[in-house]
Amino acid sequence: MVFHVITLFPESFDSYVSSSIIGRAVRNGKIKIKFYNPRDFVKPTKTQKKKEKPYLRVDNTPYGGGAGMVLQAEPILKAFEKIEKGISPPTPSYLKRGQEKKKKVKVVVFSAKGKIFNQKIAYDWAKKYKEIVFITGRYEGIDERVKTALKAEEISIGPYVLTDGDVAAMVVSSAVSRLIPGVIKLESLKEESHWNLLLKKEKDSKVGENGLEYPHYTRPEVLEYKGKKYRVPKVLLSGNHKKIEEWRNKQTKL
Ligand code: 6GU
Repeated sequence: MVFHVITLFPESFDSYVSSSIIGRAVRNGKIKIKFYNPRDFVKPTKTQKKKEKPYLRVDNTPYGGGAGMVLQAEPILKAFEKIEKGISPPTPSYLKRGQEKKKKVKVVVFSAKGKIFNQKIAYDWAKKYKEIVFITGRYEGIDERVKTALKAEEISIGPYVLTDGDVAAMVVSSAVSRLIPGVIKLESLKEESHWNLLLKKEKDSKVGENGLEYPHYTRPEVLEYKGKKYRVPKVLLSGNHKKIEEWRNKQTKL
């Protein structure tokens, strides 16, 4: 899976991308994350050319008035064209036009007004696409024509407003990445069947919509904190795997 991220702040991804699991997946070649800054696709104006460090603008005031600035479409579309060139190899001459193999590319624009992301979407994308383009903006928004011109899907990560879409891109890439085979190590010996089971569960949204998981406990068996004792549920110490599974399933159903 390749994530292409169009963002004004690629550096905001640094610590996230180098963090353990995503970083390991990148090093192992399971995923790739590439960045494109719309600012790099803005040409200086004639008067700006003389300046040493011209301010290259990527936003402007909204038509119709109102607060804040809107990201302009052109720098983003130019960044997208660069991605497209890298993805689709030139058509071999023996293929007629229209016969060229289409690579599956998904284009996502992050915005608070988008469709709310969930586990099923994560599953679908991990399965369907080899390349996903994420376009992030600031909360005042991106010129709507980016979405229409690229036939992008507008996605939100929840019912609240963030300062920018970068954090949303990290959230979504985390959710999608862990569904790519080999990104997470499964301790099960029957790795393949375990994997399919996990995917099926997530697809059916058995997990995901509410709890995702049962509670976890590790040593010590009795935890003391401020004079109080906190015990591990007895069933987990019983060694009765059937009972443990029943208990865990019950915990998952809210
Ligand atoms: Cl994707 N962007 C912004 N600005 N706010 C959000 C969001 C995205 N998802 C939830 N809130």
